[in-house]
Amino acid sequence: MGKRLYHGAAYYPELWSEEIIEQDIMLMKEAGINVVRIGEFAWHTMEPEEGNIDLDFFVNVIKELYDNGIETVMCTPTPTPPIWFTHGHPERMYIDQDGKVMGHGSRQHACTNNAYFREKANIITEHIAKAVGNLPGLIGWQIDNEFKCHVSECMCKTCKSLWHEWLKERYGTVEKLNEAWGTKIWSEYYHSFEQVPQPGPAPFLHNSSLSTMYRLFSMEKIAEFSDSQAELIRKYSDAPITHNSNIPFAVDNERLFKNLDFASFDTYATQENKASYLMNCDLWRNFKRGRDFWIMETSTSYAASLESYASPHANGYLRAEAVAAYALGAEAFCYWLWRQQRAGCEQPHGSVISAWGKPTVGYQNVLAVEEMRKKIEPFIVTTRPKQPEVAVTYSDRAKVFLQTEPHQGLDYRGLITSFYERVVSLGIHRDVIPENASLEGYKLLFTPFVQYISKEYIDKAIAFVEAGGTWVVGPLSGGRTGEHTIHTNAALGDLEEKVGVEALYTYPMDGTGAIGNAFGEKAPLGLWSTIFEYDEKTAVGTVEGGVSEGKAFITEYKIGDGKVVMLGALPIGEAGDSLLKKMIKHYSNEADIPSQAVTNGTIVAPRVNEDFETWFVINMDGKGGTVTLPSNAVDGLSHERISKGEINVGPYEYRVIELR
Ligand code: GAL
Repeated sequence: MGKRLYHGAAYYPELWSEEIIEQDIMLMKEAGINVVRIGEFAWHTMEPEEGNIDLDFFVNVIKELYDNGIETVMCTPTPTPPIWFTHGHPERMYIDQDGKVMGHGSRQHACTNNAYFREKANIITEHIAKAVGNLPGLIGWQIDNEFKCHVSECMCKTCKSLWHEWLKERYGTVEKLNEAWGTKIWSEYYHSFEQVPQPGPAPFLHNSSLSTMYRLFSMEKIAEFSDSQAELIRKYSDAPITHNSNIPFAVDNERLFKNLDFASFDTYATQENKASYLMNCDLWRNFKRGRDFWIMETSTSYAASLESYASPHANGYLRAEAVAAYALGAEAFCYWLWRQQRAGCEQPHGSVISAWGKPTVGYQNVLAVEEMRKKIEPFIVTTRPKQPEVAVTYSDRAKVFLQTEPHQGLDYRGLITSFYERVVSLGIHRDVIPENASLEGYKLLFTPFVQYISKEYIDKAIAFVEAGGTWVVGPLSGGRTGEHTIHTNAALGDLEEKVGVEALYTYPMDGTGAIGNAFGEKAPLGLWSTIFEYDEKTAVGTVEGGVSEGKAFITEYKIGDGKVVMLGALPIGEAGDSLLKKMIKHYSNEADIPSQAVTNGTIVAPRVNEDFETWFVINMDGKGGTVTLPSNAVDGLSHERISKGEINVGPYEYRVIELR
């Protein structure tokens, strides 16, 4: 991939006639589509009968596209193994937690750990890599499609024996497993690894360790599958490899991208849920640091299937999304899909072109994206996203702990997104970083909703604090061991000693009438909470009312040049939102972190080159807004000089402001 911006679409040429493919290519050129992604569901077309592989069709399509200035991301077709693989072979299929065996149809119906599946997947992938790996039009690879988006942990026999191997590897002896999981409880005790069940049907809940470990095992296995496919491709092709993922899927994204070359995600966030869209950009930028990410799929207007649909984006929103993505570090902005499906279960889905070859309701917006892409490309390729000073940790392992232990239906994605949204609303330039990311360059770190904080993470965060950083821990963080059990040395385990804090109680605070008082604001407190003894020296937030009246729910501890802030409970409701914002603002002010004076609904994505900063100012709520420039500037698009102070941005408009 070179220094340019891509504007692309998912394309399924195998579903259309030669004539239509020709028409499509012509229409793509008109719409400014310069990259397509193909092949991810085409296993049957590639290998209609077992062993009979013919890839000429795809080779020709890639060549034809390239002759017309359109590059290709090639996919491996493994989410949809053909009927010859599945028919009469229930043992090769995915089995869900209730023991239901999947049949042929839809997608992700096979077990990706099945040995025969792996063998056949390797064969088809190797053939594809050989056939297209060096074509000039081939600029990238996508492995499979949205791993574990419809399914999660498989319960088949293959998975069972791999599970036992995984446990042996992790624990060494079954005695250690018994000890770690506390299996004398309810007479779960195992005499051999082979006796350890999968968390399938049971009268009541499984042991937390069993559930969490099975999820982690499954995430590791799907990442290993991705690794092995990538390795095969690399034997024949230098083009970089990715996978199109997202947060809700049953994968550990940090682990998944570890052995891939660039990160990409799919998003169907509604216009109301901009925070989720922006958070993905701020997170995906950090799975492969220093390498631009891709938005591999998004709808031109609305997502839909036979069973449901979302509302169309207002005109103008698509361009706002695209410019935000490019400015926040995306190299590509791609649609699902190019031509509306005429069959299957997703016919109603928004697209660029209809099944009958005419522009869709989203089409004008696609043209607007293309016009914008051309205008901003010179600015994007000569700058890079500015290093933020605030980081919020994102962890798919934390997501797993919350799945096993959701209290009253807690959902990690929702919790972390609303936490993130507050940072955005304050105009603070931020990163969302995976658990193992380096903390270099940051001044303020938030670690909310991570029930298990690993020793490595604690050590890294404490070193960050010693060097002057502020680390805000919580809410809900630190109360579980890596085995998903309760600490027995202290409520928060070793964290307490390292920070010099002592938790008093942990208990569910929702509905207890507890009111938090901090930073001059008051709000009801909720969530499973950690409460501290009141001490003048450390208490920042106190509890009024409820069952721990007079105790502290926010405390501070100085370590080296920085401090650790323990946030023990979640301020809730509107007042809670305001209190949390106050807190974020307080610690970012204290750390001297600038915030952009920007109205709600408008964002600033700052980028830098050697000499100056460039602000991409984007209105995302369709209401227009203002932003205050800290210095005189030049409007990058009109070349006019602008004096410092407030400037306007119209509904869904964007501006490129060079602070020079
Ligand atoms: C994605 C998937 C696509 C298509 C799309 C529809 O999850 O990768 O194949 O189904 O959703 O929104």
